Amino acid sequence: MRRKLVAGNWKMNGNRESIRTLVEGIKNGLDGVNCDVAVCPPAVYIPKVAGMLDGVPVEVGAQNVCDQDSGAFTGEISGAMLAECGCKYAIVGHSERRSLYGETDELVAARFAAARRNGLVPILCVGETLEERENGTTEAVVARQIDAVIAVEGVAGFDGAVIAYEPVWAIGTGKTATPEMAQEVHAFIRGKIAGLDQAIADKLVIQYGGSMNPGNAADLLAMEDIDGGLIGGASLKADDFLAICKAAS
Ligand code: PGA
Repeated sequence: MRRKLVAGNWKMNGNRESIRTLVEGIKNGLDGVNCDVAVCPPAVYIPKVAGMLDGVPVEVGAQNVCDQDSGAFTGEISGAMLAECGCKYAIVGHSERRSLYGETDELVAARFAAARRNGLVPILCVGETLEERENGTTEAVVARQIDAVIAVEGVAGFDGAVIAYEPVWAIGTGKTATPEMAQEVHAFIRGKIAGLDQAIADKLVIQYGGSMNPGNAADLLAMEDIDGGLIGGASLKADDFLAICKAAS
């Protein structure tokens, strides 16, 4: 039985005070939560949040990680730095990175590899745009995004890693995939990995992301291959985030 993982992707939101309030709220509301939980703050707040969560069963993740380990890469943050500052996870390939900052499948795969070699658990985001869904190319798109990682890391790269299926049209839009729509893609992803290594596929945590909230979380999380959530908007309110964690418990 896979343990579910609920991770909050705070994106570029918050300030010292609001983040302190949010972390305190999460810390104080963990009764009844029995799943893995992580929060991914803006990078500058990672040390502060990690300090506040010391000894608390909530892990910290980064929203991205450099593909290189050190050197002249202005603006980037290495996996070793993130690990040293208390991160367990690193999101890679979020659709906002792909569409707004031009990250290619190849760069995302290199970032995924960098996370792993620095001891971080990568959370690989995959998902189709509305146009791709309407064209019937959802599976081809998701397969291409996963194959880019397999080309670099082999299927072993997914041993202990996390995939987040995030249909781009559902992110921040209030439109959620139905549980059945999401399950179909999750099953496709697990089947694809299983075709290469059944044991890795069986334990692979596949999160759903895209307007998950306290109202729809339970139905999504009840699906066989949905192993948690990557939560954007609803992770900025402690009560909403905790309600989703409880739905996953
Ligand atoms: P959302 O974001 O929950 O606000 O749709 C999810 C994500 O981008 O990871």
